[in-house]
Amino acid sequence: MALDKFDWLESFELGITDVDEDHRGMLAIMKKIERAADNEAYDLCNELLEELLEFTIAHFKREEKMLEDVGYPNVQHHREYHTELLARAKAVMNVCRDIKSKDNLKECCHEMFSFLVDDVVTGDLKFKSYMEEMGLIKRP
Ligand SMILES: [Fe+2]
Ligand SMILES: [Fe+2]
Repeated sequence: MALDKFDWLESFELGITDVDEDHRGMLAIMKKIERAADNEAYDLCNELLEELLEFTIAHFKREEKMLEDVGYPNVQHHREYHTELLARAKAVMNVCRDIKSKDNLKECCHEMFSFLVDDVVTGDLKFKSYMEEMGLIKRP
């Protein structure tokens, strides 16, 4: 299931280079997490989760700045949405940190995947159409 999501996410592009690059960066870390979970490398997994969180925080900041720069009217709403996602991610990570079994760790990874998917799909699609309307990205 996770792999399907990976494949799907890989082909998912907003058409905004910096944002797409960030999303791909998050995906790359997630793949490492998946591998670490498969290998039952718990310490590495936790390190990578930490890295993912840091990267995600940085991505959200960059994305919010970009939205401000283009005058996106719902930037405040999107910022709040990010804050919620981060709270969820931190909660999941706190659970992951104490896990010492392969199945449970996989479970945790899946939680993290759905969190990325939620950000990209339900969150970022909302500004994609605005960017298209403004002629900031090309319609496919
Ligand atoms: Fe994003
Ligand atoms: Fe976003």
